[in-house]
This record gives sequence, structure tokens and C-alpha cells, in this order.
Amino acid sequence: MTRVLERPLDVAPRIAIVYDRLRPEERLLFEAFERRNVPFDKLYAPKFTFDFSQPQVPRYDVVLGRCVSQTRGLAISRIFSALGARVLNAPEVIETCGDKLATNAALARAGVPTPRTGVAFDTESALSLAERFGYPVVLKPTVGSWGRMVSRLNDQDALEAVLEHKETLGGPQHKVFYLQEFVQKPGRDIRAFVVGDEVVAAIYRTSAHWVTNTARGAVASNCPLYDELAEVSLRAARAVGGGVLAVDLLESERGLLVNEVNHTMEFRNSVTTTGVDIPALVVGYASSLLVPS
Ligand SMILES: Nc1ncnc2c1ncn2[C@@H]1O[C@H](COP(=O)(O)OP(=O)(O)O)[C@@H](O)[C@H]1O
Ligand SMILES: [Mg+2]
Repeated sequence: MTRVLERPLDVAPRIAIVYDRLRPEERLLFEAFERRNVPFDKLYAPKFTFDFSQPQVPRYDVVLGRCVSQTRGLAISRIFSALGARVLNAPEVIETCGDKLATNAALARAGVPTPRTGVAFDTESALSLAERFGYPVVLKPTVGSWGRMVSRLNDQDALEAVLEHKETLGGPQHKVFYLQEFVQKPGRDIRAFVVGDEVVAAIYRTSAHWVTNTARGAVASNCPLYDELAEVSLRAARAVGGGVLAVDLLESERGLLVNEVNHTMEFRNSVTTTGVDIPALVVGYASSLLVPS
């Protein structure tokens, strides 16, 4: 049998990186793959098509998902995962981390410490939950990032007002009231970067504002790893299914509390800050998952 133009097996990339926006993170990952001489395909998600009658998408061993759009990232993660690839991160992990309530459920099941958190579905129940927690309370959308609509309500009047706005103006998602105790943290939170089974680095995010997202102006600085930080972060990452994750923690009188786990981590401010080559470690981890041929 004669075969024409067959690509030698060892040349076809077995790793793909799926992206929809070229942020510094994606560029750093591309460079890290190139530096390591690991062949990889770049898949631009908005132009990605998949025809189930002709599933001719290359059979990647590993797919690194970097979509900013969570919906698109999850859809593509589901497809490649179903085709047998190891996807970073797995669809179940994206589903859990993409929803603060699902994250809390997973963390609670695993006994990982978190701020006291609850959910209510009408104003009266939300007010009594807040009463139980004590003011101030924090109200957040269950799906969101960059600190958007994360609200500190100092008393019942303020909470009532925001709940009424949400009920009147918000879509169905805003009818789920996700409430938390306000944690008296020291003007900063901690973000720990987990790659596989290792906590590789961490940063403090410090701000004069109580919302400490770097997207909202918080300043990143190195946070040296210590036992409790590594242990709690790793437990949190495992509780949501593991992979390449950023665990956000709050320092409190009760020790470290996990606030959320991010499934498509941003690390542009963290490489020089920590001195840890995070993209190289991600590429190393992805390569370690290649199926031996
Ligand atoms: N319960 C809380 N107590 C104190 N600070 C909080 C609390 N929840 C959130 N924050 C602050 O607000 C920031 C954004 O909240 P977060 O839950 O991480 O939402 P997002 O997904 O938008 O980043 C956190 O990084 C933290 O600084
Ligand atoms: Mg956050």
C-alpha cells in the first residue's frame, strides 16, 4: 500500500493551545513551548469548527484551554475531553470553578476552609441569612470575575436596596443570592498558582480598596510559600478536580480561607514578581501528560 504525503507521527503536534484573545499570558505560553521545542498547534477558538459527522480534528493528547470566554472554553474543553484528550482544564473543573456556588459546594465537601458562605433565593431569606452572618456581608454574582459587582453591604438597608435592584433589574442569574461573611483581611489577599500536584508560586494582591483584584488596581508582590498556604491551596485545587489553577485565599483569624479557584489563570504580573517561570512550568506539566508513543 502506498501512502502519499503522510506526516511522520512524531512531527504532528500532540499538544494544542486553544485561545480567543492573545493576552500576554498566551504569548508567554507560546514562547515557553517554542523554547522547550515542544511542537504544538495554536487553535483560534472563534474560528474553530467541529463537525460530528466528520470528526477529523487531530487527536491531541493534551489540550491547554486559554479562552477568555468561559462559555466557549467550556464547550471546546468538552469536545476535546470527549475525544480522549487530557484537557487543562477538564470541563468538570471549568464548570465548578466558573460558578462560585459550585466551588463552595466542592470545597465544603472536601473540608477546605472558606469564608462562611450561603445562598438564598428571595429577599426575606437573604436578609435572615445576612442576620446570621452579621454585617457587613458580601454579595456576589455566582458567575463573574475581575471583582465586578462584588458588593460589601454594611447594614440591612444597603442589602435590601441591592437585593431589590437585583430582583427588578437582573437576569435569572441575579436571582440567586450568594452571600458571604466579610473577612477582615489585612488589605490584601493571596493568589497561589497550582500546576498539577505542585503549588509553584504565590503573590499578595494589595490594595487600599477591599476588593483586591489586580484588574481593579491592586498591586502584586511576591508571597513566599509556607506550609499552610501550600497545603490549603493544593487541597482546594484537588477539591475542584485539579489541573492548572489559581487559588485565591484570604488571611483571617481562623487561618487561610479559600475565596475562589480560577480555571484560566492570569499570571502576567506574577512571573517577574515571584521569579518563577510559571509558563515554563505549565508547559512542562502539559508535556509530562503526553502519552508515550
Ligand atoms: N468575603 C469576603 N471578605 C473580604 N473580602 C472579600 C470577600 N469576598 C471577596 N473579597 C475581595 O474581593 C475580591 C473579589 O472577589 P472574588 O470573590 O474573588 O470575585 P471575582 O471572581 O470577581 O474576582 C477578592 O479578591 C477579595 O479581595
Ligand atoms: Mg477573584
